[in-house]
Amino acid sequence: MTVAIYNNKGGVGKTTTTVNLAAVLTLKGKKALIIDFDPNQQDLTNSLGIKQGTETLYSYLEDRKNRVNPSNVIQSFGTKNTKTGHLFQIDVIPADEDLGSQGEDKLRQNFGIRRLYQILDSLKYEYDYILIDSPPNWRFFSQSAIYASDVVLIPTKHNNIFSLENAAVAIKQFIPQVQESRKDGGPIALPIFFNGESITDAGRNTAHKAIEEIIKQTPTSKFNLRPYFYPRYTQAKQDRHIFELPSYAHIANAAFSRVPAAYKDKTARNYYLELAKEYFLQ
Ligand SMILES: Nc1ncnc2c1ncn2[C@@H]1O[C@H](COP(=O)(O)OP(=O)(O)OP(=O)(O)O)[C@@H](O)[C@H]1O
Ligand SMILES: [Mg+2]
Repeated sequence: MTVAIYNNKGGVGKTTTTVNLAAVLTLKGKKALIIDFDPNQQDLTNSLGIKQGTETLYSYLEDRKNRVNPSNVIQSFGTKNTKTGHLFQIDVIPADEDLGSQGEDKLRQNFGIRRLYQILDSLKYEYDYILIDSPPNWRFFSQSAIYASDVVLIPTKHNNIFSLENAAVAIKQFIPQVQESRKDGGPIALPIFFNGESITDAGRNTAHKAIEEIIKQTPTSKFNLRPYFYPRYTQAKQDRHIFELPSYAHIANAAFSRVPAAYKDKTARNYYLELAKEYFLQ
């Protein structure tokens, strides 16, 4: 399964989610590849202290004759369980500065937004999960990430109205646009989740009111946003549960030590295991 992690709003936890979700999936025995498709920030690459391979993502995207060996581009991040000695590994395609310095027109001309999808076509059989971190805008890199994905995971903040409104725009506008050009029904938006803030009952109520407004702004005949905010909601049982990934200092601090929090800290690990169970594992 290929997952794009996206929200047009910045700082909602896209990169952090990508890295920690991949970490817990490997702890569950899954093979995971993560792609830093935000070359202007390169946060994912830096948070793991990953270096470029002998060939770059740029050359991989440019190579239409399959001359680039993917193993020269893909790096790996490994960590050992000190008790059992078991090695857990995440494969990583690091960000590429050369890509970040290209103008939007050039990127579209040289590669087109289908190019990432094409190169993943040969890789997707080697991994259980491919996770793509994307930048907070709706330009070449995000469009490519969403075009390449089966599902889109959308972190939001319960106390940031723009992160909720942007999620709605992605769900009712951006993703359907991509579906139209893909023509195979994909990608599919997953229900949003709240990331990285402590939530009080009052704060949760305020968020629910704002979400009701957002849902109401689009007539159901045009697009029913409700299942993307409240996946458990039915007429009979008006369950407004939204998955919450709590705020936790170790999650933010882990980037300093260049090891995902989910590998280092039991509480962080459990938070992300819950996220993995909610969306990906049975
Ligand atoms: N659950 C959490 N608990 C504590 N801190 C968090 C949590 N999730 C993310 N953060 C912190 O919030 C900040 C923003 O997270 P992150 O960089 O993942 O967001 P982003 O959406 O990728 O941002 P950008 O839009 O700039 O790419 C980081 O400092 C990160 O460490
Ligand atoms: Mg980021």
